[in-house]
Amino acid sequence: MSADKSTSWSYAEAQPAENDVLRRARERSHELGLFPVSQGVAATLTVLAAASKAQTAVEVGTGAGVSGVALLRGLGPKAVLTTIDPDVDHLKAAREAFLESGSPANRTRTISGRGQDVLPRLTDAAYDLVFIDADKPSFPDYVLQAVRLLKSGGLLIINDALDKDRVSDPAIRDASTVVLREVGKMIRENEDLFSAMLPTGDGLLLAVKR
Ligand SMILES: C[S@@+](CC[C@H](N)C(=O)[O-])C[C@H]1O[C@@H](n2cnc3c(N)ncnc32)[C@H](O)[C@@H]1O
Repeated sequence: MSADKSTSWSYAEAQPAENDVLRRARERSHELGLFPVSQGVAATLTVLAAASKAQTAVEVGTGAGVSGVALLRGLGPKAVLTTIDPDVDHLKAAREAFLESGSPANRTRTISGRGQDVLPRLTDAAYDLVFIDADKPSFPDYVLQAVRLLKSGGLLIINDALDKDRVSDPAIRDASTVVLREVGKMIRENEDLFSAMLPTGDGLLLAVKR
């Protein structure tokens, strides 16, 4: 790999420049002590939401709404984003970001609750896109639920899939790294999924349900 890779990497992550709505959502995230998706991940989410023409999307881990605003930007005008988070302060900040983004209130369904409790209540094969960016120990359960929720052709997106470059080093056995390695294996070995890992941000694992 060329020595200029890290320069190219920083360049790619900073494309394109973010608008004021995303910048303010990032500020609110940092005030709440949250780590929102990177600039590169936000841009990728917008592209994936637009390219998939998703009408129904689910997000686990709303935070202060950076990823939600990015998804809403790419989703069609009639699409609905269901976003789940147990923290009411995070949801309040996210609602502010969604409002500022100009998205009509009926395009977002914010659910206060834990992914483990809410996902099992959602309908089978009713969603075009599922994005996971919440508590890492639950990622394997979220993947199982996502496969159930997705329609055929639906897209699963998992954030932080490389766990800050630790997943590729088998000597690292931290709990979060082990979980994310397990999630990667689960997805690669699932014959109902086509998958690819993008190194964007801290790793974006994509899978399409056949
Ligand atoms: C990294 S932040 C999400 C950032 C957000 N996706 C963004 O880019 O703005 C992780 C979020 O997961 C939420 N969370 C923690 N445990 C959760 C659970 N069991 N179910 C759903 N969300 C959870 C936290 O409250 C936090 O808001």
